[in-house]
Amino acid sequence: MLSKKIGIDLGTSTVLVYVKGEGIVVNEPALMATDERGARVLAVGRAASELLGRGGKARAIRPVRDGDGVDYDAVGAMVQHLIGRIVGRQRIFRPDVMLSVPSMVTGVERRAVLEATMHAGAKSAYLIDKPMAAAIGARVPVATTDGILVVNLGAGSTDVAAIAHGEMLALESIRIGGDSLDRAIEEAVASTHGVRLPPGEAERLKVATGSATVPAAETSFEVTAAAADGRNLQLRVSGSEVQAAIHTPLLAIASALQRVIAQVGEDRRPSLQRNGAVLTGGGAMLRGIAEFLASHGGIPARVARDPQSCVAVGTGMALDNLQVIRRGQHYIT
Ligand SMILES: Nc1ncnc2c1ncn2[C@@H]1O[C@H](COP(=O)(O)OP(=O)(O)OP(=O)(O)O)[C@@H](O)[C@H]1O
Ligand SMILES: [Mg+2]
Repeated sequence: MLSKKIGIDLGTSTVLVYVKGEGIVVNEPALMATDERGARVLAVGRAASELLGRGGKARAIRPVRDGDGVDYDAVGAMVQHLIGRIVGRQRIFRPDVMLSVPSMVTGVERRAVLEATMHAGAKSAYLIDKPMAAAIGARVPVATTDGILVVNLGAGSTDVAAIAHGEMLALESIRIGGDSLDRAIEEAVASTHGVRLPPGEAERLKVATGSATVPAAETSFEVTAAAADGRNLQLRVSGSEVQAAIHTPLLAIASALQRVIAQVGEDRRPSLQRNGAVLTGGGAMLRGIAEFLASHGGIPARVARDPQSCVAVGTGMALDNLQVIRRGQHYIT
């Protein structure tokens, strides 16, 4: 194979790169470190997070930020770095690159991302909507399926889409994701125990003991917390405390699912009922999430295999199914 086919899932927290025939080759923080003026890229991904962790004057840049949208220059720099890592400095065989973007990114912004990708050394550049990529990566036969729901539970946002015959019938993208669950845990711990969790501890609690449904057996987990006087202490938090804390943001996700189902025409409802929802993204690894969304959505729900990779894998796989993309006209060659 002369030119590589590369799929890039540039998320708010993580960047994944899938290379056809090789699989996921990059899974690192979606972060860059630049000099103080933001003029020169010093490090990307894991190296950037290590550099920034050491303190100093480097500046942290996240190419995709919730609310603030996409920083094109940063996307371009990041993609250029990633292409360089994968195909080397010799750009004789430039790669075909497919990028997944949040669905709310506008036409003008899409064009800018494509141009940045071409400028970064791609032979051809394509964009795909995140939920569509998630479904493809979850091995849903999107072109032939008569109606299915996909819920991508990311860090910064959750996307819910209904897909039939290669088209998105309905879509909701909410700025509630894994980060919101972490914040809810921090708030609950602060109000119950009067201590502050340092960065990362709420997420550790969520992964260790979190559950969308009431846990069958009680669990608990010890974390480091900062008392009001600033001293660090060890604190044991129970699974049911975590479950109660994340209930509200999870209900918001369930509501988005209900709204998408409601937007789909009556004629498609039976197929949604039959095929249910497939859950992707890191948040799909939360215990009980399929059960929770199934009961609130009134449809069957299942977690995709390797859910956190679905968007990246689907983004790369879509390069072999370009007819799906070309219809959307989001490409440059
Ligand atoms: N076992 C787990 N249980 C619950 N949540 C988890 C688990 N593992 C990872 N997560 C959460 O998944 C989220 C990361 O998922 P993912 O990598 O899909 O997000 P992202 O693509 O970077 O973000 P976005 O799609 O919003 O831009 C984080 O909030 C993380 O805490
Ligand atoms: Mg994502």
